[in-house]
Amino acid sequence: MRWLVRAVLVVIVLLVVATVAVYAISTADLNRSYDIPAQALTLSVPTDAASVERGRHFATAIAKCSDCHSADLGGKVFLDVPPFLITAPNLTRGQGGLGSSLTDADIVRAVRDGVAPNGHALLIMPSSAFQYLSDEDLGDIIAFVRARPPVDRTLPANDVRPLGRVLLVIGALPPPDAATIDHSAHPPATMPAAITPEYGRYMAITGGCTGCHRANLAGGPIPGLPPDAPHAQNLTPANIGSWTEDDFARALRTGKRPDGTTINTLMPWPYTAQMTDTEIKALWLYVRSVPPVQTPAK
Ligand code: HEC
Ligand code: HEC
Repeated sequence: MRWLVRAVLVVIVLLVVATVAVYAISTADLNRSYDIPAQALTLSVPTDAASVERGRHFATAIAKCSDCHSADLGGKVFLDVPPFLITAPNLTRGQGGLGSSLTDADIVRAVRDGVAPNGHALLIMPSSAFQYLSDEDLGDIIAFVRARPPVDRTLPANDVRPLGRVLLVIGALPPPDAATIDHSAHPPATMPAAITPEYGRYMAITGGCTGCHRANLAGGPIPGLPPDAPHAQNLTPANIGSWTEDDFARALRTGKRPDGTTINTLMPWPYTAQMTDTEIKALWLYVRSVPPVQTPAK
């Protein structure tokens, strides 16, 4: 019996050591601070109704802030799964909201650098796409955020649970966007809407198409999602080479493919449905201009 007691003790000691190690390493990782100075926009944040309306359109149809932070920007629990609880915070001035504490520069840093005012890397926030937002478009978005009526909604604090900590330590989670962004880059002051492939590329990046369908639009499994989630389709001529501009616009506006099948709403077509003709035509020119590539298996 003595050997059995010893074996059990050894296992217990190993488990305790492993647990302490996982907590120590993951806590250090989660508490890593990014010393990114808050950068002001080159333009002052507007307050006029036309700018607020442009900001509403960009925040809904393109950047989809309202998909994660909810339509009233009062925030919501974004993810509550065994590894973590992550909330997209309340951005309004209501109770439980960050609206009255965040400065304009704090919002610029959160959106473009993926870093919170306390220096922590923001999770889920797609700043790798938003780092390219022009000063004008981001200024309009901030104008829209500021113009939202206050929403009283207090959300639970984020929690990285034991399984999440294990995933973090074994490197199974993608790094936060703050770790890969070039924080010294300066996006353009303005990016005027026009039916050009350049503006289409800007739509594809800031609208998150490249985040899911990948930088070369080849599609495949979406980074960070479970392997059984629908794969993003190939948007290069290798897959949609026979589509017309009308087919493309119909897919983005109604979620219907040319063969009549419905596109899964993991593809955010209820939001792309609100894009303007100019935006969709520019996006089409860009999608048409990329070289055909095969979809990678992983
Ligand atoms: C894919 C979902 C998603 C989208 C799209 C998104 N956010 Fe977030 N956002 C989050 C989550 C989740 C957090 C909290 C992350 C954390 O605490 O680690 C966050 C945090 C923030 C913060 C930081 C608040 C703070 O100080 O802690 C701001 C500001 C913000 N978002 C603004 C925006 C704006 C403006 C847009 C649109 C341009 C946007 N977000 C789009 C999910 C999203
Ligand atoms: C959150 C991830 C995500 C984003 C963002 C996203 N897509 Fe998708 N997209 C998908 C997924 C997943 C599918 C496949 C859905 C299915 O299997 O029904 C898809 C399918 C499509 C299709 C149908 C292709 C086909 O062959 O049937 C088109 C067209 C498309 N996306 C275009 C876009 C464009 C343009 C953007 C940017 C404005 C975009 N997507 C943004 C995930 C995304």
